Amino acid sequence: MAGLDSRAGGGHDGAMIGKRILLVVGGGIAAYKACELIRLLRKAGADVRCVLTEGGAQFITAMTLAALSENPVHTSLWDLKDEAEMGHIQLSRQADLIVVCPATADLIAKMAAGISDSLAATLLLATDKPVLAVPAMNVRMWQHEATRRNVARLRADGVTMIEPDEGPMACGEYGPGRLPDPEAIVAAIAAHFAAHFAAMPGVAGRLAGRHMLVTAGPTHEPIDPVRYIANRSSGRQGFAIAGALAALGARVTLVAGPVALATPPGVDRIDVETARDMAAAVNAALPADGAILVAAVADWRVEPAPTKIKKRADGSPPALALAENPDILAGLAADPRRPALLVGFAAETNDVIAHATAKRARKGCDWIVANDVSGDVMGGADNSIHLITAAGTESWDRAAKGTVAARLADRIAAHFESIA
Ligand code: CTP
Repeated sequence: MAGLDSRAGGGHDGAMIGKRILLVVGGGIAAYKACELIRLLRKAGADVRCVLTEGGAQFITAMTLAALSENPVHTSLWDLKDEAEMGHIQLSRQADLIVVCPATADLIAKMAAGISDSLAATLLLATDKPVLAVPAMNVRMWQHEATRRNVARLRADGVTMIEPDEGPMACGEYGPGRLPDPEAIVAAIAAHFAAHFAAMPGVAGRLAGRHMLVTAGPTHEPIDPVRYIANRSSGRQGFAIAGALAALGARVTLVAGPVALATPPGVDRIDVETARDMAAAVNAALPADGAILVAAVADWRVEPAPTKIKKRADGSPPALALAENPDILAGLAADPRRPALLVGFAAETNDVIAHATAKRARKGCDWIVANDVSGDVMGGADNSIHLITAAGTESWDRAAKGTVAARLADRIAAHFESIA
């Protein structure tokens, strides 16, 4: 099932993996569309945290947003518990992008005037992060001179404003003012991240001319035609690393286990299913200057039955004989075509640094990125990282997968610059 993925290079959705989006839901009938937006953003790999305005809460509940985003929802500037857990300044600082959707005439006016009389308005004033607003309102409100002035002011201030759609409105009128489809909003957000990457000063080209090989995701080991052994890896950390390396100008081959993630911009993706497929695809992609093996490869496989295994009349379970899978990382370390920089990952629940240091020696790689999964981080939005190299151990602050990816890509670029 190995083969070049047709999605490679299409769209910018992969630019969203590991990004933190703070979604401000304003008070308009279009607020219900925020639900679908959250679902699509999360599907594209983003972490979404919501702020619900008082008006927004008239149309949609905090419970709905919390359930869809799987994050607490923030509603009030004066909530002591919220403030103690994450203050409003922190809330805006932690985001990679603030999306205001729907952006009502009232919110737009407050943003333009710098009014901070609510949690949403305050964090929009307190932030230094990019803001993208998706207006939705009655056609006359949208066309009113006051709104025209405010929208022009916000554009001049650097806010990305998405044009509303034209069509029949909930209020019975017809014209511009409808919230665009959530798919179109996601595309605009993804384009924002892709453009942001490309425009980062001093970034483009640091890895130009280098070939980087990345593995990501789980592997599936079939038991029979309908069952398989798998693990909880989401693939997001590996995809984010592939994207970050491509953003630095590297040619990136991403060998991906079965995950439903979009391909980051500029990355060549090869989809595989089993550990042996992954090993073969990695070998076929050599030579490479660097290999970053992030995949959670299944340690064992079974010899799959050719037809579905049926339950037995006597109730006895079938015995699955496990065979060890090839160790791709150790194999690359011993290969005459070994990449100059070989980086392994280690997800550990205890004695993280000791286990990871031993793993580095055992597998013969240059660096180990040790991920502390004691707090059930696998599949989550953040990673707690220790980078183990010949020079020692560096512990990084717990960060979003996108941030970890950018930091690792920066370290890799610095490594190649130092040996150039
Ligand atoms: N890895 C690999 N091939 C395998 C198993 C692991 O390439 N068959 C790579 C992973 O991609 C990762 C590193 O080896 O970069 C460590 O993976 P991990 O599962 O933590 O290591 P294990 O060999 O399974 O060690 P242990 O069971 O002792 O934790």
